[in-house]
Amino acid sequence: MTVLFFGDVFGKPGRMALLRHLTQLITEYNSDFVIVNGENLADGKGITEKTLKPLLSKGVDVITSGNHLWDRQEGLEYIAGEPRIVKPMNFPPIAPGNMNYIARKGDLALSVICLTGQIYMPPCDSAFLSFDSFWESTDQALPLFVDFHAESTAEKRGFGWHVDGRASAVIGTHTHIQTADEEILSQGTAYLTDAGMTGAHDSVIGVKKEIILEKFRTSVPRRFETSDQGLMINGVVIEIDQISRRASRIQRIRFAVEE
Ligand SMILES: [Fe+2]
Ligand SMILES: [Fe+2]
Repeated sequence: MTVLFFGDVFGKPGRMALLRHLTQLITEYNSDFVIVNGENLADGKGITEKTLKPLLSKGVDVITSGNHLWDRQEGLEYIAGEPRIVKPMNFPPIAPGNMNYIARKGDLALSVICLTGQIYMPPCDSAFLSFDSFWESTDQALPLFVDFHAESTAEKRGFGWHVDGRASAVIGTHTHIQTADEEILSQGTAYLTDAGMTGAHDSVIGVKKEIILEKFRTSVPRRFETSDQGLMINGVVIEIDQISRRASRIQRIRFAVEE
C-alpha cells in the first residue's frame, strides 16, 4: 500500500495549499491512504469541525495530532465524536478523542496512532512504555503507522529504534522543520525525524516572523498571527507491504506552491 502523510498543516494557508493539491498528489503517487497531522488546523491551534471537514471530503483518511489538539474549546465535542481524529495515546485516557483508528480500503487496512515526546513538551506518559502496552493489546498483523510528535531529535530517533519491526512507519512531527534523514530501519520500519510543516514558510514555524522576532528581542508576549507567505507542502510517501508489514520505500515530499 502507498501512504501519503503531510506534516503539521498550519492554519488557513496550510489548509488551502493542501486542498488545492491533494487530488493531484493522490493521483501522482497512486496513494491508498492519506494521513495529515492536524494539530494546527484552526489558525495554528487545535482542530474544529469547520477546519477539518473540507480535508476529510477531499480524501484525507486519518488525522493525527499532538500537544495543540485541544486548544480550541469549540472543537472538543467534535474531536470526541470523530474517530478519524487520533489523539496522542500517552495523554490521559479521559482527554477527548480516539487513540487508534484503523483505515480500510478494499483488502487494505492500516492502523494509525500518535504519541508525544517528553523532552521540552507538555507532561505526558512515556511514549516508549505507552507504545509497548498498546502493542500487547493490538492486532499485530496490521501494518501500523505512528506519528511521533516530539521536539527532541534524540528522543525521536530512539523511539524509531524502539519500535523498529513493530511499527511499519514512524514519522516525526511538531518541529515544523523537515529533516533529511529518511530511511528504512533494519527491521523494516520507515523512519523520518520530522515531516515538516504544510503552510507558510516565510514565517517562524507558521507565525508571522515580525511577531516572533519582537518577542525574542523584548521577551514580551505577543498575540500570534498566522503567516500566509511562502506556502509549502511538506510530507512523505511510504510504501508498506500489507502482509509482511515492512516498508519498502520512503521518500520526502517538499515543494513550494503558488500563493
Ligand atoms: Fe505543530
Ligand atoms: Fe506540536
